[in-house]
Order: sequence, then structure tokens, then C-alpha cells
Amino acid sequence: MDKRNHLLKTLLIVTFCFSLLNAKAQTRLDTAFINQQLNDAVKQIKVLATKTPEHMLPRTFDKGKSVHSETGWWTSGFYPGTLLYLYEYSNDKELLQLAQQKLKILEKEQFNETTHDLGFMLYCSFGNAMRITGDTAAYRNILLTGAKSLATRFSPITKAIRSWDFDNFPVIIDNMMNLEFLTRAARLGGDKKLYDIAVTHANTTMKNHYRKDMSCYHVVDYYPKDGSVIKKKTNQGAFDESAWARGQAWGLYGYTMMYRETGDKKYLKFANKIAKYILQHPNMPKDLVPYWDFDAPNLADTSKYAAYRTNRDVSTASLMASAFLEMSTQVKGKLSTQYFDIATNIIKNLSSSTYKAALADNGGYLLKYSVGNIPAKSEIDVPLTYADYYYVEALLRYKRLLDDKKMID
Ligand code: GLY
Repeated sequence: MDKRNHLLKTLLIVTFCFSLLNAKAQTRLDTAFINQQLNDAVKQIKVLATKTPEHMLPRTFDKGKSVHSETGWWTSGFYPGTLLYLYEYSNDKELLQLAQQKLKILEKEQFNETTHDLGFMLYCSFGNAMRITGDTAAYRNILLTGAKSLATRFSPITKAIRSWDFDNFPVIIDNMMNLEFLTRAARLGGDKKLYDIAVTHANTTMKNHYRKDMSCYHVVDYYPKDGSVIKKKTNQGAFDESAWARGQAWGLYGYTMMYRETGDKKYLKFANKIAKYILQHPNMPKDLVPYWDFDAPNLADTSKYAAYRTNRDVSTASLMASAFLEMSTQVKGKLSTQYFDIATNIIKNLSSSTYKAALADNGGYLLKYSVGNIPAKSEIDVPLTYADYYYVEALLRYKRLLDDKKMID
């Protein structure tokens, strides 16, 4: 009897292991699948281009209407950035020309000292333009001037870059994403201080934005005269102590990027802990497309956001896919496989008709169902330029991994 039990147990374990292996083999996407998504994206972004006025940038598509922005809006770099990524993939000159038209109107933002979003606006656009075309003469000075403008917002007292010009000295988790602009500008021959500012900001954010469970606050407001913390709160999340989903993903991507940029292992350890929080969250949906706030499904009926308990945020999923792909190259063994599988699943799900729009639908955007800012009642259940940008980035990263190429230059 014991022997039979043992045999049965062994058989069950072997079957289980085989089914796991098979599941992995099934979830790995192949080059044909990735190319298909990128080919579709090339067609779709040309639709978006026809809907975009010459002096504006696409922002979203809401209630059947295309919404555009001026160059000063924080998302202005994502559309040219996506065009450039897709040009990199397809070598289609029309995409490069469309991007260059937008770069021309965006150029003036290099002098903008009123926003912390210059990394999104200028690095996703001009940074990619320089990397892909190799035209240093055209783009280097714009990047260096822009990075200098961003650095004017750094305070050696708070040891952080100021996000917004209201409140006292607010710093939002999103700002982690703008640090790559500074480290790259320093590498391009800009002031070495730009790199130091990025490192200092990342360290301050580690210290003050994160809770014990490794979720993060959206906003930390500092007292500018001595750098003490006045208040930790939210702006776009469900409540001050909640875990606003995109904020968790900005942090995940941000610390992963900071490990790549500095080689400092403490950032990788930190990113791994953020990953654990996100992946083990009981409210993470099976398809890995998070609710707009991890606490949203538990909101009480009395909450002003109770009506939004089930809204997903596709932009968070896109960001996570791209970040987990990079993380899969930074860690080894089982964890690397786990991160790669997570990214695979997200990409597969975002590429399904549940989330991906049919050609010429959705105002020309690739993905549906993102959330911009629920507390401000703005951009709810709509496509967003950054959801598309990080989705395309993830597809390109995946393709590079399949081709055994270095994922990031
Ligand atoms: N950086 C603004 C946002 O994530 O909505």
C-alpha cells in the first residue's frame, strides 16, 4: 500500500511538473506573434496621425472625440516616442517624418522649468530620436538643455526634485521616471551633477514614499526650508493610504531603471520587493491588468469612488510588462523566468481583443481601458498615449530578447 501511494505521489508530481513545463511553453510568445502586434501598431498609429492636428499632440479619445494637447502637457513625448519605436521596428520613413514634425513643435519645451515631467516629454521623444537615427548633432543640445531645466527643480535641502508648483514641495512617485533623462544627459557629456541629482532623488524617494508593505504613497509633501515631511497623501489614488496602481508601476519601472543606470544593487533589491507587493496583491486580477487602485475593489459604498471599484488601468499593465522584461534580465534562475512569464502573460492579454482595439477603432490608439485621473473625473476608461508607448516598448523588448539581442542600449 505504501509503495502504491509512493508511486501515485511520484506520478502526480511528474504530471504536475510536465503540465507546468507545457504551460510555460504555451505562454512564450514567438517572433511571428510579436511582429503581428507591431505590424498592427504601425497601421493603427497612422490612423491616429490622420486625426492629429499639425500643432497639437494626441492625448486620448473620449466619448467618440479625439482629444489633443499642447506641447507643455506631460504626455507630449509619448506619441513621437511611439512613432520612433515603430520606425525602429519597421524602417517605415513615413513614421520618422511624422515623428520629426512633432519634435519640431516639442523642441521649445527644453526651456520649460515649470514641470518635472521633462523626462517623459523630452527623453521618450528626443532621446529615442537620437538613439535610433544616430543624429547626435540634431538632438544632443536639446537633451542637455532640457535636462538642465529639469535640474533647476532640485533642492539640496529636500534632496529631491519638486514635482508641482502648488503645495509646499510636493514630490510624486511618478518623478522616478524622469531620472533616466538625467543619468543619460550626464553620460552624453552634461554636468556630472545631473547623475548625482538622479541618485539623490531616488534615495530620498526610497526613504519617504514607501510603506512597510512596499506599497507607495503617491505624493510626499516636504517642508522646503528643512526638508522634513509635512504630509504623505494621494492625488490620483482612491485615498491617502491606498495603493494607486500606476504609482506602484512607476516605482517598479523607476527602480529597475535606476539599477541599470547605476549598477547599485540596492535599487534591484528594492524593485524586487515592489514586484512582490504587486504580484502577491490579493486584488490583482487573473489577467494581470490591475484595477486603477489596488484598493479600489474594497471601497465602501460610502466612498466617493465606489462607482469605480472595477475600473482597470491598462497603462499600469503596459508599464509592468516593460519593467518585468527588464527585470528578467537583471535577476537569475526561477525569478527571471517568473518575471519573463508575467510579462509574457500581460503582453498576450493586452494583445487580445479584450484590450487591443480593432484597426481604425478607438480613435487610432492601440489599447483601450486606461484611467488618467479618477478623482479629477478625467480620462476614465479611455485610451492613453502612455499605455500605447509602454506596450510598444514591451513588444520591442520582447523581440530583442527572442533575438538574443541586448535589450537596452
Ligand atoms: N504622471 C501622471 C500620471 O501618471 O497620471
